[in-house]
Amino acid sequence: MINRLYIKCKQSAAGISLFSKAKANRNMQRTLWLLSVTIAVLIASSVAFAQTKGMMKKRSLPQDYGNIVINSLSEKNGMAPVVFKHWLHRTRYTCRVCHVDFGFAMIAGKTAMKEAGNEGHYCSSCHNGKEAFAPVAKNPSGEDTVNCDRCHSYGKYVKFEFDFYKFTAKFPRESFGDGINWEKAENEGIIKLQDEVPASTTKKEPLEGPADFTAGSDALGLPASVFSHKKHIVGISCELCHNDIFDYEKGITKYSMDDIFDGKYCGRCHGKVAFSNDDCLRCHRISAQAVK
Ligand code: HEC
Ligand code: HEC
Ligand code: HEC
Ligand code: HEC
Ligand code: HEC
Ligand code: HEC
Repeated sequence: MINRLYIKCKQSAAGISLFSKAKANRNMQRTLWLLSVTIAVLIASSVAFAQTKGMMKKRSLPQDYGNIVINSLSEKNGMAPVVFKHWLHRTRYTCRVCHVDFGFAMIAGKTAMKEAGNEGHYCSSCHNGKEAFAPVAKNPSGEDTVNCDRCHSYGKYVKFEFDFYKFTAKFPRESFGDGINWEKAENEGIIKLQDEVPASTTKKEPLEGPADFTAGSDALGLPASVFSHKKHIVGISCELCHNDIFDYEKGITKYSMDDIFDGKYCGRCHGKVAFSNDDCLRCHRISAQAVK
């Protein structure tokens, strides 16, 4: 849906730009762009379906945004698939605890996981009864509490301990994706992220990266996108982007907005776990200072 609107905007803005060569000035063009983008966003947010490549794909509900269904082995072994929730885990840990220290792939289905309790790796790095609940735990009266369903929950009715809406009720809001402004939640101290898990991870030093820059150029009157290393390296280590996704030199990696919508480059995280690509103006803003 948003992709189609985006192409439409692109076409109509291209029309405007021909027109503008003769008549309108650049400011007019920018105003029209922002207006069409705003309309596109308003329409898109009121429609419950997003169209991707000719397939009707349901826009995920806020509590499902960033959820990963893991099913390489579960169903084959008579268990319901596992549902992993980013929203809950990212209230406690930085991305790099899992994606660097514990080696979870940043592409769904790519991690060679086995049963949590058996291995001492992956989920059971934490789900060991110390950092988080274990597959089987002793309750205070000494009986076993079996926790299989809390992870193997896909398609089942499970009573979870953490409810998305209750848990995030006081979090700063945002219009798209999971509806949470995670950057604000962290800045305002509502969440305090652990960058380590005692006894399991290595100590980390603060990172330093190059200065903020703009990616692409002002296109069709829409401001270029701002990329801030400073903001990204708070919990994301260099190796999660370099050189797998981006080159170490500015301007070398070539990509377009369509690639981002397709889940590549910035879209490896944005639209999946980090804020949604529907939020055009959070990236396409005038300067690094003009952040809402
Ligand atoms: C903390 C989350 C978690 C809990 C709790 C958990 N599992 Fe799993 N389990 C996983 C994950 C992740 C996989 C890998 C899933 C896949 O690839 O399909 C898995 C895979 C499995 C598999 C198939 C692979 C294998 O290694 O045999 C079985 C069987 C299984 N779990 C049984 C159980 C049982 C029984 C319990 C309860 C005693 C349990 N699990 C509790 C996360 C969990
Ligand atoms: C508690 C552990 C944990 C934390 C913290 C965590 N992730 Fe993940 N992430 C996972 C797991 C598990 C998967 C699924 C891996 C698989 O299926 O092989 C995953 C998958 C992903 C994917 C792939 C999604 C897809 O649809 O292909 C992205 C992108 C991602 N994570 C980004 C992030 C970002 C950004 C952060 C920090 C804001 C983060 N993760 C924090 C565990 C974590
Ligand atoms: C970095 C540590 C860490 C890792 C890795 C991790 N978890 Fe968790 N997880 C936690 C903590 C902490 C909680 C909340 C505390 C608790 O309930 O013990 C939690 C809670 C959960 C819950 C919430 C259950 C409920 O009742 O609401 C599920 C489900 C879950 N984790 C699944 C997984 C799966 C599946 C994996 C692996 C793919 C995983 N976790 C990896 C730390 C982790
Ligand atoms: C979220 C993704 C991301 C992370 C994390 C990240 N970078 Fe980058 N980096 C980029 C992008 C995007 C570019 C521009 C690449 C291009 O245009 O080809 C870039 C460019 C660079 C450049 C070239 C700058 C220039 O002016 O030519 C350097 C140097 C660099 N990064 C270093 C780092 C270091 C050091 C870290 C860790 C502290 C880091 N990056 C973490 C995304 C990231
Ligand atoms: C490795 C995952 C990852 C990649 C790749 C990535 N981001 Fe992000 N980005 C995040 C996370 C996590 C946040 C924190 C906010 C959130 O989760 O919604 C964030 C925040 C931002 C913000 C808000 C902070 C600020 O600078 O004001 C902007 C803008 C942004 N990203 C733009 C980009 C652009 C442009 C690219 C591609 C050049 C990119 N990101 C690539 C994970 C990523
Ligand atoms: C996560 C950040 C991010 C978000 C969100 C985002 N963009 Fe982009 N966009 C970029 C980056 C980065 C480029 C520059 C690619 C390049 O040329 O290097 C870009 C390029 C563009 C271009 C230039 C032409 C092209 O196709 O590459 C247009 C037009 C555009 N975006 C429109 C949009 C619209 C409309 C939305 C909202 C529906 C949006 N963008 C949301 C980061 C973003």
